[in-house]
Amino acid sequence: MRSAKDFFAPLAVGAPAPLREIPARPSRAIHFFDPSNPKMAAKVPDMVGSVDVLLGNLEDAVKADNKLAARQGLVDIARATPDLGGGQGPTQLWTRVNALDSPWGLDDLTTLVTEIGDRLDVVMVPKVQGAEDIHYVDRLLAQLEAKAGLDRPILVHAILETARGMVNVEEICGASPRMQGLSLGPADLAADRRMKTTRVGGGHPGYLVRQDPVDGDIDGSRPTYQQDLWHYTIARMVDACAMHGIYPYYGPFGDITDVVACEDQFRNAFLLGCVGTWSLHPKQIAIANKVFSPAPEDVAHARRVVEAMGDGTGAVMLDGKMEDDASLKQCLVMVELAEQLAAIDPALKEQYDAIGTTGTESSR
Ligand code: GLV
Ligand code: MG
Repeated sequence: MRSAKDFFAPLAVGAPAPLREIPARPSRAIHFFDPSNPKMAAKVPDMVGSVDVLLGNLEDAVKADNKLAARQGLVDIARATPDLGGGQGPTQLWTRVNALDSPWGLDDLTTLVTEIGDRLDVVMVPKVQGAEDIHYVDRLLAQLEAKAGLDRPILVHAILETARGMVNVEEICGASPRMQGLSLGPADLAADRRMKTTRVGGGHPGYLVRQDPVDGDIDGSRPTYQQDLWHYTIARMVDACAMHGIYPYYGPFGDITDVVACEDQFRNAFLLGCVGTWSLHPKQIAIANKVFSPAPEDVAHARRVVEAMGDGTGAVMLDGKMEDDASLKQCLVMVELAEQLAAIDPALKEQYDAIGTTGTESSR
């Protein structure tokens, strides 16, 4: 057993001290790019400032033959783009390394931390099964940070994409003070669970409920309602993250053309408590930025409740609805998020400023 007092001690001599709190940096869209793809790599410098997180992906979707080129490509891009990452600036730099049991995972971490560790904000680790995977990465990162002379710890983000990882989700979140958050990995998780889907995230028309028959007429008109395949998983992930003071994210939505269903899936995750999502195509960045920023009318309504509740105790009636301490706390979540986002997004700030406290709750 490790004493609670040692939890915040560096895990290697010379490594930076772990953070006591994970900073709430805007991360509405985590935009994935393949650093071995010259066309994608060339676009990266111009995206700084227009997306909250740029993530150099080394894992799935990068061909085995391109793994080394992707790793080196990310080093080159970080060096050539000085305003990307490094704990400051408008756009964070993350990477998704290869799995810990793959032929590349160890060298991904070793190379990236020693070459561009001062620029990396978060390392996303795929296929995390339990706390033991986080403990391994935690110690290795500390050793590499010491070697590289870093003064800021690199944070860790785990992808929830195995059944065992799901079962161990709480212990994964609490395994290290480096834990920044979790993302849902619906494609790998579906395969690992032996779900009978063939998609990368999103719903399935077969997963539905049907209205009861009228007068026993089972063949008569009986509307069906598609259900959310990911509700249980996202809700569990959100609770585990909230319990440990870290951040939950939806993951990939593979149907790039279906921007409507993508927006719905992202919004479900936002409403359930997620702070952001992955973007696999530039058009998903705009969707994520819209969905994961509170609607101006909701911010206006939340401000009105905060104002009306005064010292926060008791209850008031607003537009026929009872507001009390608990609805005030929900409104404060909204107002604080709006303030954080307004600080980095001038267009959003303008909308929030313009609406003031005059809106009523949106249903979007
Ligand atoms: C993401 O990595 C997924 O498997 O969905
Ligand atoms: Mg995966």
